[in-house]
Amino acid sequence: MFKLSLLDRGMKKIVFATNNVHKLQELRQMIGGMYEVLGLADIGCHEDIPETTGVIEGNAEMKARYVKEHYGYDCFSDDTGLEIDALGGEPGVYSARYAGPGHDSEANIDKVLKKLDGIDDRTARFRTAIALLQGDELHMFEGQVEGVILTERHGTGGFGYDSIFQPVEGDGSTFAQMSPEQKNSISHRGRAVARLVEFLKSQQ
Ligand code: IMP
Repeated sequence: MFKLSLLDRGMKKIVFATNNVHKLQELRQMIGGMYEVLGLADIGCHEDIPETTGVIEGNAEMKARYVKEHYGYDCFSDDTGLEIDALGGEPGVYSARYAGPGHDSEANIDKVLKKLDGIDDRTARFRTAIALLQGDELHMFEGQVEGVILTERHGTGGFGYDSIFQPVEGDGSTFAQMSPEQKNSISHRGRAVARLVEFLKSQQ
């Protein structure tokens, strides 16, 4: 009891609206000295939080507001999309389920490659939006990385569309051919997270 109350008083709590253990670990490493970072499972949130705005900024905000409203915690939430210019910005906010509700990355990649078959303009970008809700104050952070969509997969690391995305910065590797550190240093999410962390540190 004594230990618990000591811990409880120690640090402000903030929720990262995710169930992704890797994202949580990463954030804990970066702001663990300032905040106790709780994931959705830690606060007993097991429902599917609605993401219905049709844009990544709106979805990130919607998730943060849901947590604040239903669980009372300050919260931040991220949402990412791959925007391919020749496809009018698709898959965008629908990146996770482009080929159907199964969140199947291989099927998503196949669909992109098929739609771009024979098209020369391969420019694209990943964009991440992070919404931070502190009390009733909303702050938005964005990160993006420009690149091209290759005609076939290269590399086995990473996840999602990594094996077909070649960032313009770098040595010609796809995200799937980079170490996690290399990818984080230039990635959409790495950049958005860096801005969030810088902001949180500036408040200390
Ligand atoms: P989320 O908002 O982070 O869940 O990302 C939505 C979807 O975008 C994921 O399911 C992936 O398909 C794709 N995505 C997000 N980030 C990345 C990335 O760093 N590499 C490749 N695909 C990604």
